[in-house]
Amino acid sequence: MDIKKIRAETPGIAHGIHLLACGSALAPRPVVDAVMSYLDLEARIGGYEAHAQEAQMLDATYGSVARLIGAKPHEIAILENATVAWCQAFYALPLKKGDRIITCQAEYAANYVAYLHRQKTEGIEIDIVPNDETGALDLTALETMITERTALISITWVPTNGGLVNPAVGVGAIAKKHGIPYLLDACQAVGQMPVDVEALQCDFLSATGRKFLRGPRGTGFLYIRETWLESLEPASLDHFSAPLVDSSRYAVRADARRFETWENSYALRAGLKVACDYAMDIGLDAIQQRAWMLAADLREKLVELPGCSIMDLGAEKCAIVSFTIDGLDPQFAVNSLREKGIAIGMTNQASSLLDAERRNLPVMLRISPHYYNNESDLDACFAALEELV
Ligand SMILES: Cc1ncc(COP(=O)(O)O)c(C=O)c1O
Repeated sequence: MDIKKIRAETPGIAHGIHLLACGSALAPRPVVDAVMSYLDLEARIGGYEAHAQEAQMLDATYGSVARLIGAKPHEIAILENATVAWCQAFYALPLKKGDRIITCQAEYAANYVAYLHRQKTEGIEIDIVPNDETGALDLTALETMITERTALISITWVPTNGGLVNPAVGVGAIAKKHGIPYLLDACQAVGQMPVDVEALQCDFLSATGRKFLRGPRGTGFLYIRETWLESLEPASLDHFSAPLVDSSRYAVRADARRFETWENSYALRAGLKVACDYAMDIGLDAIQQRAWMLAADLREKLVELPGCSIMDLGAEKCAIVSFTIDGLDPQFAVNSLREKGIAIGMTNQASSLLDAERRNLPVMLRISPHYYNNESDLDACFAALEELV
């Protein structure tokens, strides 16, 4: 990996130290250029005309997203964020009173709200798999919880609030063995590690553009395995997802774009395409290795700080580092570091409520280095935190 080149291609690096890829990462110059030049084209020749001129490139975005996760282009819907992508799949699934959903302790709050919503409106039931002794989803417990009422296994691979990596491949094997649909929230995984829907054996996968993938904000995507494409109808339709055949009939599109609507930000899609290509050019294995190594180094440094507790769960830890420091208000720490040009973040209980309640978590500090960061970024961050304790 040519770190010098990668850093030179990252405009944000000239403006400070950014250590929050799990929030919204620094985009590389080619992504920024793709968005800006598309907007510029729209300004010069008009939105519809730009779309016609760039149709091939825009269509190729589906190919780029698909390649990134080992899928086929017709299995991809491009949406405005991961939540919309996830909801499109979840609310399309026909569940009836008494059907059970199995989820995990680390589940993202938005997904859990949707489970509660369908519990309230349709009478579904929610089962939560306990963690194993390392804090990751317990695969043995998962298998014992499956009953003939289990209608969906839906988990978060990497949570928003820490370095845990749930055993998503193992979950896929169990889901497949029992013939249960599997919905995977890969929002924090895509862009920081290789993702392969065949290895995962998931039926649906959602992700965002702006986090580790380094794409523009306002982008996300949904993968739908092709075997579902004929049967799974979106909860809502328009004349893009289901063009009118005549005044009494529509025909739902055959591809995953049945989960999209007519109007979109094509400038952002252009950026998303470049973000996928950029990550694949560097290589997801290499990205994972470096980002995880930087996070591991940071954890090693942080434990030296008096009163610091690393809160990440699991035997295998990714590039999200969550921690607390006794007596240090997280908001004060974030603000103080921001004044020094260092961006770190916080994670509050509400975004991963099940985990927060189970572990009685306070608001935590959250740092996520990406492959474009270096040791001196970590040193500067550590020194700034050291001054506060
Ligand atoms: C695990 C996880 N899932 C889903 C989301 C939602 O993503 P988006 O904000 O793109 O809808 C997030 C965002 O932080 C997340 O961390």
